[in-house]
Amino acid sequence: MLALGSDHGGFELKEQIKEHLKNAGVEFKDFGIYENKSADYPDIAKDVCGRVLSGECSAAVLMCGTGIGISIAANKINGIRAALCSDVFSAKMAKQHNNANVLCLGGRVTGPELAFMIVDTWLGEEFLGGRHGERVDKIHMLEKH
Ligand code: RB5
Repeated sequence: MLALGSDHGGFELKEQIKEHLKNAGVEFKDFGIYENKSADYPDIAKDVCGRVLSGECSAAVLMCGTGIGISIAANKINGIRAALCSDVFSAKMAKQHNNANVLCLGGRVTGPELAFMIVDTWLGEEFLGGRHGERVDKIHMLEKH
């Protein structure tokens, strides 16, 4: 189960991604915002990342205007590995090397067709583990500092 969330800057892209996921048969839950009104991206990040950490959802796609604010916020939460991607190669590496459990997109940066490819790539790839796993473990060691 994939979680989705956005502020107003990512709202339109979130709605487009929902349509894309429906057509692709990917199950998702939308945690808002539900109308295009101003919202604070740290609140969205906190709520949606909590649902990943609790196991309610296995991963999340978060969107704000640039993707920057919501990725910074998400990465403050222990256990979250949020990758801001605006290209397909980064999306592939975000899963293969970083095992990103949250994908962030900028609704004012990345157009819908590219965003769909980024989401599909990230969802479709597998974490390679091995040395990459050891590095990911070291990322989480930083949470203790
Ligand atoms: C909201 O105007 C905008 O600042 C937000 O969506 C995001 O781009 C922040 O990083």
